[in-house]
Parts: sequence; structure tokens; C-alpha cells
Amino acid sequence: PFVTIGQVASIVFFFFFVLTALLGRAPKLTAYCDAAEPWQVGFQDPATPMMQGIIDLHHDIFLFLLIILVFVLWILARALWHFRQKRNSVPQRIVHGTTIEVIWTIFPSLILMFIAIPSFALLYSMDEIVVNPALTIKAIGHQWYWTYEYSDYTSSDEESVTFDSYMVSEDDLDPGQLRLLEVDDRVVVPESSHIRVIVTSADVLHSWAMPSLGVKCDAVPGRLNQLTTFIDREGVFYGQCSEICGTNHGFMPIVVESVSREAYSSWVSHQLQLLP
Ligand code: CUA
Repeated sequence: PFVTIGQVASIVFFFFFVLTALLGRAPKLTAYCDAAEPWQVGFQDPATPMMQGIIDLHHDIFLFLLIILVFVLWILARALWHFRQKRNSVPQRIVHGTTIEVIWTIFPSLILMFIAIPSFALLYSMDEIVVNPALTIKAIGHQWYWTYEYSDYTSSDEESVTFDSYMVSEDDLDPGQLRLLEVDDRVVVPESSHIRVIVTSADVLHSWAMPSLGVKCDAVPGRLNQLTTFIDREGVFYGQCSEICGTNHGFMPIVVESVSREAYSSWVSHQLQLLP
């Protein structure tokens, strides 16, 4: 034959090893970057089990993609080689081949099954609602900023911790702050805690999206959407509104700051002191 099965297998494994070397989970020496980078192609570093699951699923499916790519290219090259006019000037008239038809029906469906099983498992676990979250935050989209309500904490006269979160404009940036991503008041959350975010909007559609948490939730006026997340490390995470919501759609970023539980409780008590 033109190319042996062994050669195809070695090409597939070569691609697989290159891929795992490039995208592998070897410990990184660089610090975590929880914002998008210029010319970034891959994912941001995951901070939740859910984002880790999304990345793993992507890599799993990529393996199938590479196998199919190599196999199809091989068939194509083989067909072009063997059935070119010089070699095969009188075409055969084959219209049926039961065996091959059974094979090329069953194999793709098996591949689809191997893709569907982990995919559905992830999908349904992402939809899972935590019954007893440690903290509930309400994120309200406005044209063009976010309002956050921590209604778990209230003052004596039932006033809950709430603040607006505006983008820091380019002129006001401090050194090291990220352009178009930094906000004046960050969402502070405790690490390693189950967090429920209720997402809604006061005017038009917005979307509360945070790549490194694997979270994206539409903010719909008159409707409460819910997401749960569990950030397993400290860090500052950057996200953006991800639903076209008007002229300043690009200027209503989201910053989540995940801190230790001690730091979080002192932040909460400071916020409570600010209440009337
Ligand atoms: Cu808010 Cu786009």
C-alpha cells in the first residue's frame, strides 16, 4: 500500500505527543495570568474545577480531531495516487460495498459517542446548583457598569452591602493596571468556597463572563439567572461583558478578587462599616 497503518499510527502519535507537550499539564514556572494576553491563542489558566473540566474536554476532543484529520488526509492522498489517470485510465463501476458502508457508518457513530459522553457529563455538572452556597452575590448589569449586591450581609436597618463597579478609564490607570479591564470596585470573594452568583440586568441584555472561572451567564432584564462557582486559589480574575449592550459594551469589565477567608471577612466588615 501507499502508506502503511504503522506509518499512520506513528504520525498520529507524533501529533499527539507534540500536542501534549505544548498543552500539557506540566507545572508552570511562570506566574498565573488571569487576564487575556496580547496574541493569546490558548485558554487562560483555570481557577475552578469547572474550567479545568472544560480545558480537559477540549484536549480530549482535539485528539479525535487529529486522528480524523490524519486519516482523511491519508485517504485523500491514497486516492489521488492510486486512481490518477496514468495509473487507472479505465474507471471501475462500483456502486455498492456493504462491508465498507457498515464500517463507515459505525465508526463515526462510535467516535461521536466517545465525544458525547464526557461532553454531556461536563454539561450537566456545569448546570448543577449548589444548594447551600457559602455566599450569594447579585450581579446587575447596567449601561455600562455592573452593580454588585452582597445581600448576605446587612446593616441593622436592613441595608445590604452594595456597590457599583466602573471601568478605570485610561487616564486614571495606575502603573500595572490593565487597560480596559481594571475596575474601581472589585468583586471580592473567599477562595475555596461555594459561591452563587445571581445575574440580572436593569436595562438591556448583558453577560457576566469570566474566562478563568469557566463562567458566562446572560444578564436578562426581569429575570434572575444563576451560576455557581468554586475558586480554588487566590488571585485576581478579569472578565468582560459578553453580550453586545450598546456603545460602551467594551468598557464594562468584571474583576473578581479571590482572597483568603480571613482577608475576606475583614473586607466584609469594612464594607459593613461603610453602610449608613
Ligand atoms: Cu454590557 Cu455588553
